[in-house]
Amino acid sequence: MNDIVYKKRRDRLLEMLDDGVGVIVSAEQKTRSNDTEYPYRQASDFYYLSGFEEDNSVLLFIKSAKVSKALLFVQPKDEAMELWTGRRLGVDTARKRFDVDEVHGIERYEEMLKEALKERTHLYLDLFSDDLRYAVAKGHCKSLVDDRSSKKSPRHYIDVSEKIRTMRLLKDEHEITSIRSALAITEMAHHDAMRQARPGMKEYSIQAAIEYQFKHNGAYSDAYTTIVAGGNNANTLHYISNRDTLEEGVLVLIDAGCEYAMYASDITRTFPVSGTFSPAQRALYEMILDVQLRIIAEIRPGIVKKYLQERSELWLCEGLVGLGVMHGEPTALIEAKRHKKYFPHGIGHWMGMDVHDPCPYVDEEGEELFFQAGMILTIEPGIYIREDDTDVPERYRGIGIRIEDNILVTETGYENLSDGIAKTVDEIEAMCIS
Ligand code: GLY
Ligand code: MN
Ligand code: MN
Repeated sequence: MNDIVYKKRRDRLLEMLDDGVGVIVSAEQKTRSNDTEYPYRQASDFYYLSGFEEDNSVLLFIKSAKVSKALLFVQPKDEAMELWTGRRLGVDTARKRFDVDEVHGIERYEEMLKEALKERTHLYLDLFSDDLRYAVAKGHCKSLVDDRSSKKSPRHYIDVSEKIRTMRLLKDEHEITSIRSALAITEMAHHDAMRQARPGMKEYSIQAAIEYQFKHNGAYSDAYTTIVAGGNNANTLHYISNRDTLEEGVLVLIDAGCEYAMYASDITRTFPVSGTFSPAQRALYEMILDVQLRIIAEIRPGIVKKYLQERSELWLCEGLVGLGVMHGEPTALIEAKRHKKYFPHGIGHWMGMDVHDPCPYVDEEGEELFFQAGMILTIEPGIYIREDDTDVPERYRGIGIRIEDNILVTETGYENLSDGIAKTVDEIEAMCIS
C-alpha cells in the first residue's frame, strides 16, 4: 500500500488528540516452546498507522500547542541477529521508506518517551492491553506526577485504540481491494474443497486442500483456524480439531478464509460430501439460504445491526416452524428465546484487518451505529440440530448448516464481495461432482 495512506491516517489521529502523548506498540513475538516462535503477525492497529511489519517497534505521537508529530522507533540493524531472525530495515532505510516525522532506534524510545511526557496532560494508549510497554509508559507518568516540580503532568489515560478502531470501521479503496484479493483466493479454496471431498476422507485432508490453495496463491496465512466439520461436528460452533472421517451422506460445513496483505476473509459453505443433498438437508439448506439472501437485501446505509439480528431470528424461527423443527407461534418462541437452541450466535460481525474487526458497534452513548458506505460485515445465519435432539424429526438430526458471506455497505445498498462462491443448491451440487 502507498505510504501516503498511513501518513494520512496518522495525521487524522493526531487531529483527534488533545495535549499529550500517544503510544501504540507492535505485536510481540510469541513463544511456541523453548526458543521456537509462532509465525509473527503485526498488531493490526499498529500496522494500520504505520505499514511497518517488524516486531519490537513503537509509534509515538506527540501533540501540544506547538507540536504535532509521529515518531517511529525500530530495531537497529544487527548482522548477528539478522542471520537468525531475518532482515531488518533498520533506522536509515525505515526513515527513507516511511514518511514518518522522525525515525529512531528502539533503544532511544524510553528516554524520548519520558522527555515527551513532561508538561503534557494526556497519555493515549491501548487501555485494555496487558502489553508491558503500556505499563512502563504509565509508570513514567506516575514518576512525573510524583515529581511535583512540573506544572502539568499526564494524569489522564485515554483509550487510543477506540479512536483507531473507529477509523478502521470505514474501509478505503486500498482496504477493499485487499479484501477482494483475499476473497478471490478463498473462493478457489472453497471450490477446491467441494471438488475434492469424498466419503471416507479425513476432515484434515480437506483442510490441507484449502490451506494449500491459500499459500499456493500468495496468502501467507489463514485469517483464523479452518473449520472442516462433517455431520454432527458442525453443531460444535468452533470445531477446529478436524480429525474425523467424513461419513457417506453427511453435510460438510467449512468455515475458512485466508488473510491477504493483512486483510481477512471469512466464508462458510455447507455441502453434501456425497455430491447431492438429501431432501431434509436440502429443505433446511434452502430455508437458511433464503433467510441469508433476504437479510443481505436489507443492507443499506442508515440501518443498524440489531435490526438484521432481529429479522434473522424471526425469519429463521418462521422457517424452522414451517419445516416442523419447532412448534408454535414464531414471535412467542422468540420471546421465550426458544430459537436460541438452534440459532445461538449473532448474524454477523465487522471484518477487516481482523476477522472479527474490533471496531465499535455502538456510539459513546451506547446507541447502535448506523451503517455507512465503506463498512464491511459478515452475514452468517446458521441452524444447528444435534444428533441427540429428540425434539426434532429424525431426518433433521445431526445437521449443522451455516452460510456466510462478506458484505460491503455501499451508498445505494450493498455489494456481496463473496458473490462468486458457489451457494445455491444447484451451484454446489455442480461443483461437488466436477
Ligand atoms: N470464522 C469465524 C466466524 O465466522 O465468525
Ligand atoms: Mn464470521
Ligand atoms: Mn466464519
